[in-house]
Amino acid sequence: MASPRRPGESGPEERPEEGGEAAIAAHWREEGPLPPPEGLRRTANVRDRALWDRFARAGFPDAFREFGDLLDWIRPFRQVFDGSRPPFYRWFVGGELNASANCLDRHLATRGDRVAIRFVPESERAEDRILTYRALHARVNELAALLREEAGVLAGDRVTLHLPMTPELPITMLACARLGAVHSVVFAGFSAEACGHRIADSGSRVLVTMDGFWRRGRWVDHRAIAHRASEVAAREGRSLERLLVWTREPEAPRPGGPTGPVPELHLAEALVRFRGTTVEPVPMPSEAPLFLMYTSGTTGRPKGAQHGTAGYLAYAAATTRLVLDVHPDDVYWGLADIGWITGHTYIVYGPLTLGATTILYEGIPDYPDADRPWRIAERLGVDVLYTSPTAIRQLRKEAPDAPLRHRLRFRVLGTVGEPIEPEAWRWYFDAVGGGRAAVVDTWWQTETGGILCSTVPALDPMKPGSAGPPLPGIDLAVLDEHGAPIARGSGRAGNLVVRAPWPGLMQTIWEDPDRFVATYFARYNRDRASRDWRDWPYFTGDGALEAADGYIRILGRIDDVINVAGHRLGSKEIESACLTVPGVAEAAVVPVLDPVRGRLPEVFVAIAPGAPDPGEVASRVTAAIEREIGKIARPRAVWVIADMPKTRSGKIMRRVLAALANGTDAGDITTLSDPAVVEEIRRRVAAGRSSSGSAPGPGST
Ligand code: WTA
Repeated sequence: MASPRRPGESGPEERPEEGGEAAIAAHWREEGPLPPPEGLRRTANVRDRALWDRFARAGFPDAFREFGDLLDWIRPFRQVFDGSRPPFYRWFVGGELNASANCLDRHLATRGDRVAIRFVPESERAEDRILTYRALHARVNELAALLREEAGVLAGDRVTLHLPMTPELPITMLACARLGAVHSVVFAGFSAEACGHRIADSGSRVLVTMDGFWRRGRWVDHRAIAHRASEVAAREGRSLERLLVWTREPEAPRPGGPTGPVPELHLAEALVRFRGTTVEPVPMPSEAPLFLMYTSGTTGRPKGAQHGTAGYLAYAAATTRLVLDVHPDDVYWGLADIGWITGHTYIVYGPLTLGATTILYEGIPDYPDADRPWRIAERLGVDVLYTSPTAIRQLRKEAPDAPLRHRLRFRVLGTVGEPIEPEAWRWYFDAVGGGRAAVVDTWWQTETGGILCSTVPALDPMKPGSAGPPLPGIDLAVLDEHGAPIARGSGRAGNLVVRAPWPGLMQTIWEDPDRFVATYFARYNRDRASRDWRDWPYFTGDGALEAADGYIRILGRIDDVINVAGHRLGSKEIESACLTVPGVAEAAVVPVLDPVRGRLPEVFVAIAPGAPDPGEVASRVTAAIEREIGKIARPRAVWVIADMPKTRSGKIMRRVLAALANGTDAGDITTLSDPAVVEEIRRRVAAGRSSSGSAPGPGST
């Protein structure tokens, strides 16, 4: 397994492209390898390489048949893959199934009394809420009946969900799926503006929300956002017809406070009429869309990544078994938010399809203290934990010894969302896993539906700082600018692509197939007319290095996407929010390395002559970002400057700004139209930082 020269140790490392996160990637040393933990060799779902052999023997696409065989079919599929219209692929063609039946009905006979969802509220004084498979099935059926009877939801309709982390979120998702309706979950931390755009873009007539939820011991009034979101959607030509409101306390009285023009239905109250009602799961064709997940891209507005029913679900189930090694009798904890893709695939659809117990935790990892996750894990006997490097760094920083004080029994520990540095990795492995659990650093994206790159717990040696090899059936490659593969172990970085289709790949961008092709395939496709999928490599937008042993190290985004604490934000979206502030002439957002949260956005705004006081501009910029997107996009600093560094053709040099904000070498600036601008900005940033430690200074927020 040892590589002659490990990437990152020596040799020139090329920057994949100007700008982007990958250009500021932290170049730590890749470590290891460590052998897979002994215990897993006897217990893991996948203990030998037969699966790889089958992929080699049956090859593409037939080997994926066994992923489809993990599902319950109403009508069996007749063809594994149809690639006749690349890059629009169909999986498990001719089949019919229902996703909610796969998560619920199929388990009733054998595991009906087993816990499906265990809800752990933020407050430690509140008791867990337990939903067995039978109970979850009942709740989903009742809500499906209500959605159909009271809100007229039918197969193919889109329904927007703006819900926090409580059981009502998966209940609503599965009720939509039961009817064949397409759910579009908007992360609860997104603002009314962001939610409104997503309602309008998806063409939802119905919005499902909740009166409020708990965050750090404070009640967050969530329902008010729904009314503002409906105004935003109406402005964009989509009027909501129904607003369905859950109450955080199921027994709570009708939610109070102001209402809007959209008729509200109080769900807990209305559901009484549907007690015990069942709804036949609607048979859906394999390729029927299951959900939309809006995600930030390089340009303008977030795009609705559309995932299909069979391909997505099969891939979710297969990778939950293979990589997270979830067994039906496991207690599994995905410490993420269902409002992002990780929660969709690895809190809801993957674990429930396998019949496991999935924990839903309302709170954030370090509330009320950084010992909380370990208290929960010990109390519930969690077998598998899946979380983000940001959470790991935070827990380590706040209470490095906390896990040692508990009887933890993790078998597999997963991480996702950002690169994890070897130091944090080691703590996860040693302190949290006691050296007995496998750590899997899983790389994937909203668009890919599930994990593409990771070690497999019982089989692959682990290398801290490196995600690992591609999963069976996943044809990853690192290409140079011209599309030529970069030799393994050369130490040169390039663009990560996937050369062959796989079932989890999104189907398209909702109602924008051209943008789908342009964003993900135009880069390396040479012949738009080609009907051969081999001509359509999927462009991931990530920079990567491939070691001699085929292990992949992810460097980060090479496009205008910033991963903030593992949450994906578009720089363009943040920039357009800045431009709504009077006096702001130009805006540029750059990622800045942060020891805990991975990367945070910092904003440079150039003000027009005669603009208000810089301090005021800065706070207005922050407010605008929170209004347009949400608090998650809050910049670490806003730098108000007179001029942007630009090329002679007038392009803002984000690479230079990123270097200045990160305190690194700005590189070649001779192509700038006015190199003196750089010195001025450097002074401005230095003065700001020194006046308040590393925190933002005057003229910043
Ligand atoms: C980044 C989250 C390094 C990457 C599932 C990707 C990672 C983006 C890893 C997708 C990892 C995800 N190591 N970087 N293990 N996993 N990323 O769409 O830049 O929210 O493109 O999906 O997160 O973010 P998204």
